Amino acid sequence: MKVIGINGSPRKAGNTALLLQTAFQELNKAGIETELISLAGQNLQGCIACRACIERKNKECVITNDFFNACFKKMLAADGIILGSPVYSAGVTSQIKAFIDRASMVLAANRGLLKYKVGASVIAARRGGAISAFDTLNHFLHSKEMFLVGSIYWNMVYGNAIGEVASDQEGMDNMKNLGENMAWLLQKIHGGI
Ligand SMILES: Cc1cc2nc3c(=O)[nH]c(=O)nc-3n(C[C@H](O)[C@H](O)[C@H](O)COP(=O)(O)O)c2cc1C
Repeated sequence: MKVIGINGSPRKAGNTALLLQTAFQELNKAGIETELISLAGQNLQGCIACRACIERKNKECVITNDFFNACFKKMLAADGIILGSPVYSAGVTSQIKAFIDRASMVLAANRGLLKYKVGASVIAARRGGAISAFDTLNHFLHSKEMFLVGSIYWNMVYGNAIGEVASDQEGMDNMKNLGENMAWLLQKIHGGI
């Protein structure tokens, strides 16, 4: 079994990466493979509303000269998906927004590609807007027939400078618990490893 984490932060080794890695540690303990995919530095443009994917129904975006299709393929191959973003201007980053906008269109054209996969979202924030960013990512997962994994609290952890989230003990405990819960659900769905 495999879980991928898509990190929408332009800081590859920043706070969001730390949150994803914390959840991954628990998945790895349960024998589940993980892969962290960073959108940082990737060429990734937004949806151009051409609707070619709706016509073609070939499980791809018509824009083939950027990172989208490679990342989308990894999502289709995974059993679990964790989306991560820092809060930017009370929402998610433009990088992960570009990804979910395009993925939503391709998935609308090709229904059921994420059906029965397990998903969660994690957010790093300095102070405000975390719930709004969390909602945006969860809305994507929820509308694709995925099972959303909960934790002790909503998955938001506070910190600004790189590594600062590690001081938010409650937030980090929540990430650990999230990883454990995701492992539990994956094992229930797939009948062990
Ligand atoms: C352009 C920009 C906008 C931001 N907007 C917010 C915001 O609205 N609310 C907030 O709490 N933090 C905001 N932040 C702070 C980041 O969410 C915070 O530093 C986070 O820990 C960064 O995570 P990362 O290291 O994974 O990139 C902003 C940071 C940047 C660079």
